[in-house]
Amino acid sequence: GNRGLVFAVNGEKFEVAITDHSTTLLQFLRSHTRFKSPKLGCGEGGCGACVVVLSKYNPVLDRVEDFSVSSCLTLVCSVDGCSITTSEGLGNSKDGFHPIHERFAGFHASQCGYCTPGMCMSFFSALAKADKTNRPEPPPGFSKLTVSEAEKSIAGNLCRCTGYRPIADACKSFAA
Ligand code: FES
Ligand code: FES
Repeated sequence: GNRGLVFAVNGEKFEVAITDHSTTLLQFLRSHTRFKSPKLGCGEGGCGACVVVLSKYNPVLDRVEDFSVSSCLTLVCSVDGCSITTSEGLGNSKDGFHPIHERFAGFHASQCGYCTPGMCMSFFSALAKADKTNRPEPPPGFSKLTVSEAEKSIAGNLCRCTGYRPIADACKSFAA
């Protein structure tokens, strides 16, 4: 039919008529929502500033699967039926920050902050993936992520300011 797109961003429902098939998810988020944490860096999948988590129901496996995607390369017409999470959806100043935000702040892993939301989402996706494994329950404050998974999780994210050490340390602090 002629129905437009229906999807969620951080739990808010959006119904969108398709007017331009070339609009990217990043353009949509930044111009039509209040969720502006995803940033335009390279615009071609190379820097991670625009990373968001896309959750999609897989009818074959009968479960929801989560992917970290570059929203600059994702067309908004491809997210019909999906649920999108940005850094604001993890936590914010009003509802309380997510432990990822707190550790990034605590480890001084953010300077200008341009890369930070994308870093957080890449790392969140790795955390969520590790949590779904049947590895033993971690001690409180830790995750099921291994140190090497923590380091690799941000391999696609570039930072021009801080240097990678504090960022990697913040991520590795979740690995038991
Ligand atoms: Fe660089 Fe999307 S803006 S990967
Ligand atoms: Fe400035 Fe990473 S903190 S780009």
